[in-house]
Amino acid sequence: MSFVYLDHNATTPIDPRVLEKMLPYFTQVYGNAASVDHEFGHQALEAVNLAREQIAAAINAEPDEIIFTSGATESDNIALLGVAEKYARKGDHIITCVTEHKAVLDTCARLERLGKRVTYLPVDQYGLVDPEDVRRAITPQTILVSIMAANNEIGTLAPLAEIGQVTREHGVLFHTDAAQAVGHVPLDVKAMNIDILSMSAHKMYGPKGVGALYRRRSNPRVLLEPVIYGGGHERGIRSGTLNVPGIVGFGEALEIAVNEMEVYTLHSRNLISHLLSQIELEIKGISLNGHSVLRLPHNLSLVIPGVEGKALSVRLGDIALSTGSACTSAKVEPSHVIQALGFDSSRAHNTIRISVGRFNKIDDINYAAKKIIKEAKLLQALIS
Ligand SMILES: Cc1ncc(COP(=O)(O)O)c(C=O)c1O
Repeated sequence: MSFVYLDHNATTPIDPRVLEKMLPYFTQVYGNAASVDHEFGHQALEAVNLAREQIAAAINAEPDEIIFTSGATESDNIALLGVAEKYARKGDHIITCVTEHKAVLDTCARLERLGKRVTYLPVDQYGLVDPEDVRRAITPQTILVSIMAANNEIGTLAPLAEIGQVTREHGVLFHTDAAQAVGHVPLDVKAMNIDILSMSAHKMYGPKGVGALYRRRSNPRVLLEPVIYGGGHERGIRSGTLNVPGIVGFGEALEIAVNEMEVYTLHSRNLISHLLSQIELEIKGISLNGHSVLRLPHNLSLVIPGVEGKALSVRLGDIALSTGSACTSAKVEPSHVIQALGFDSSRAHNTIRISVGRFNKIDDINYAAKKIIKEAKLLQALIS
């Protein structure tokens, strides 16, 4: 059985070049980066510092503005909980959006239980937040706006620079969950006025369980109350012994992703349009979720009329794709993202998410297209 992986928004395989860079840090350079009384620690610290530089350079930040974490979930938690606590005297109001990842939405729910106020902005039918809605929602009590850079289900890219302009004008901090965007589309925290940004290595051909938070150092200096307390690592914002091999892999993965962004953007777009044109030829009435231009190049959110995504994915067997957000697919609930676009729940149930990757070949796409067409037609025949 050939197996075709088309679920790169859920996670990516490690690039062999990244793995090669990581390996010595498991068995040879295994020192603790915070234990620098000897050469083992020095070498580990040097490797961490290099990764810090690689990651900062990728988003136009400074190395000392990068805080290593266990991934984007933790970064989102630190950003929201950390700002809410540190700026409690300034205000108690946070603005976010209905299509955010659960890492943001569930943290906001926690903040509401703690007595904070959260505004959930709507999106239009393409998943876009209107920067003017952000402006209108800001009150003198607003301390933070958190809007994701790229949606993990439908691939829509947010107007970050425009939102950053609004938050800067009003003196409100701007956080973005960029787990899906970093390494896939250009990001510049200075030009976009982003104050805090969440990242995750495993969405860009790096290892799982490692991520980072960018935290602006000046103009304004962002203060964050930690979520985890301990030895004071990472400027006291995230205590805990650093995952040196993971961090090395993260740095390398992001450097590669930025250097090769143009090549892989083109590669992804070609694969997606090839897949879509084959499916469109054979199945009538399909439609797409998300924005046609402002979108991640490797994501396709496809609606096949009369075909339940879950039923289709079971029949596809050796083709890995997703029927909603992978992070929440343990629950068979219509996706909150598709519903937020203003469609009924049947559209959400009829949606499949296909996300291609660096190592997919045209043969994978031909195989997947053929099988998706065959199984979707069978399912359509069953209900007609
Ligand atoms: C937009 C977004 N935010 C946060 C996360 C969580 O990231 P991590 O797996 O690194 O905790 C994901 C992962 O699916 C995501 O897509």
